[in-house]
Amino acid sequence: MLVTRYLAKDLFNGKTVFVTGGGSGINLGVAKNFAALGANVAICGRTREKLNAAAAELSALGAKVCAVAADVREFGALEKAFARSAAELGPMDVLVCGAAGNFLVPAETLSPNGFKSVIDIDLLGSFNASRASFEQLRATKGTIIYISAGMAYMPHAFQVHVGAAKAGIDMMMKNLAIEWGRHGVRTNSIVPGPIEGTEGMKRLSGEAQLAKLINGIPLKRMGTVDDIGQAAVFLASPLAAYISGCVMVVDGGQNLAGSALFNMGAEQMLRAQVG
Ligand code: HXC
Repeated sequence: MLVTRYLAKDLFNGKTVFVTGGGSGINLGVAKNFAALGANVAICGRTREKLNAAAAELSALGAKVCAVAADVREFGALEKAFARSAAELGPMDVLVCGAAGNFLVPAETLSPNGFKSVIDIDLLGSFNASRASFEQLRATKGTIIYISAGMAYMPHAFQVHVGAAKAGIDMMMKNLAIEWGRHGVRTNSIVPGPIEGTEGMKRLSGEAQLAKLINGIPLKRMGTVDDIGQAAVFLASPLAAYISGCVMVVDGGQNLAGSALFNMGAEQMLRAQVG
């Protein structure tokens, strides 16, 4: 884990980090980066087995861990989860809102309930977590990191529900940066690019498209969960003490509009022009 090569292993000693959806994927990767730097880590999710496996991985990194089964769509369940993590690990210093749902579907066949379920998990779930954690974060002068997506600012076909949810998250994050800054609470978003080995990638891209996808990324590789974990660690650290209301894109340049054009033939055209 690169994070321990460059940062002091006690950077988050005595701090408590809560990651919603922390049982797998990007969110577990984020939780592990904090655990490696000494944080106490709490996670919640809907699947007990995933939570148990994740808790074992986090404990193996030396973290004190609290894993609670809770659905972010239920405000009361989050209130209970946060109270329990505070009792076991101390008040929250960092909240990572990572719980999300996704599937590819053309807008004309997406049911209203399908649209609603992603809005509820991603957007309402992020609000629920922010709202339920506020008193703890105010007390610690803590910080919130939202896991957004490129769909928030670059429209993608078959992702109308996710684009709406993630754009909502980023604007909510900016509203909260204004309202809660006076309490010393910072809020920021991370926009991950395609991250290898995650559920999101399984749902959004088949093996056959991977080479094309990687070719469209200026840095010519997929991201890793550690790429996102390192960005989260930075945003939660004292190095980012004056950063609030910021959308940090961590995608190897993938969502730059010019990148797609460049890779779809504009490179040859431009080279011909410059000789
Ligand atoms: C069309 C679908 C669908 C699909 C579900 N629905 N899957 N519609 N295509 N593939 C519809 C259902 O028909 C139903 O509507 C409604 O959505 C709710 O479905 P449920 O299965 O009852 O919902 P629920 O059990 O709450 O599950 C939520 C979920 C599910 C989002 C639908 O996929 C889930 O739990 N996902 C969590 C894991 C996940 O998605 N991870 C990837 C996150 S990646 P009707 O009308 O029939 O009642 C990510 C990154 C984004 O978010 C950006 C990446 C770059």
